[in-house]
Amino acid sequence: MQVVRTIDELADFYGGSFVPTMGALHEGHLSLIRQAKDLGSPVVVSIFVNPTQFSPDEDFSRYPRQLDEDIALAEGAGAEAIFAPEVDTIYPPPTHQEQASVPNLPSVATEPGLEDAKRPTHFAGVCQVVARLFDLVNPHQAIFGEKDYQQLSVIRAMVEQEDDRWPNLTIVPGPTVREPDGLAMSSRNVYLDPQQRKDALGLSSALLNAQSALSPGDAEATMHSILQDHHLEVEYAVVRDAKTLLPIENYSQPARALIAARVGTVRLIDNMPM
Ligand code: PAF
Repeated sequence: MQVVRTIDELADFYGGSFVPTMGALHEGHLSLIRQAKDLGSPVVVSIFVNPTQFSPDEDFSRYPRQLDEDIALAEGAGAEAIFAPEVDTIYPPPTHQEQASVPNLPSVATEPGLEDAKRPTHFAGVCQVVARLFDLVNPHQAIFGEKDYQQLSVIRAMVEQEDDRWPNLTIVPGPTVREPDGLAMSSRNVYLDPQQRKDALGLSSALLNAQSALSPGDAEATMHSILQDHHLEVEYAVVRDAKTLLPIENYSQPARALIAARVGTVRLIDNMPM
């Protein structure tokens, strides 16, 4: 396994499977790396805590960083290369800034009123870094976890929209990996104290119970009631069209339930198909 820090070294790994991450790898990431391995070698994992997708009041400076441990974990899961660039490599000096410009955002990044409303600059930063990484890594498939469902939808739409920029690239979804009690794995779970860890189970419980509701409206009511019982501060708990993430009246098309809620200061998201 090779740790790659410069753009030139990446050429040896073109055409394989790519798992972009911000590090602090957990079993959820490792399952994406194993999935990438099954799709085709070489497997490149990037580790880059991208400053442009955090707003000033978010956790950029305290986001967990553990590069040596991540390198060992990624290698164990089958990665052939870890791309751990410096900020200047991703965001070149002003004379070359067009290399890392923000692509036109697809409507799923601006219209649903979910992460786009709660974190207004987030998807511009995600699309900026992911577009740059795709240009540098040149993968044939890139795997994104369903845990960040709107992000997955945004990246899919961005690649569809810019099909002449990445003509050979397929975006592949990776199933959410959960703790045995149902909590979706997340690098941010380390922030939870024991009581918050219990309350956080409200998200998966709300989603599971919503699956037996007969309409999107009933599913949303069920989720709100369970989230309240777990003392969670709800940002949204909605059922949406699975592709556009726009509101729906009934289940005549594939639907997804999505939740964002705060446990104390920790913000958690989760989602499930309906
Ligand atoms: O999901 C993440 O970890 C990040 O948003 C990503 C896709 C690596 C871009 O920084």
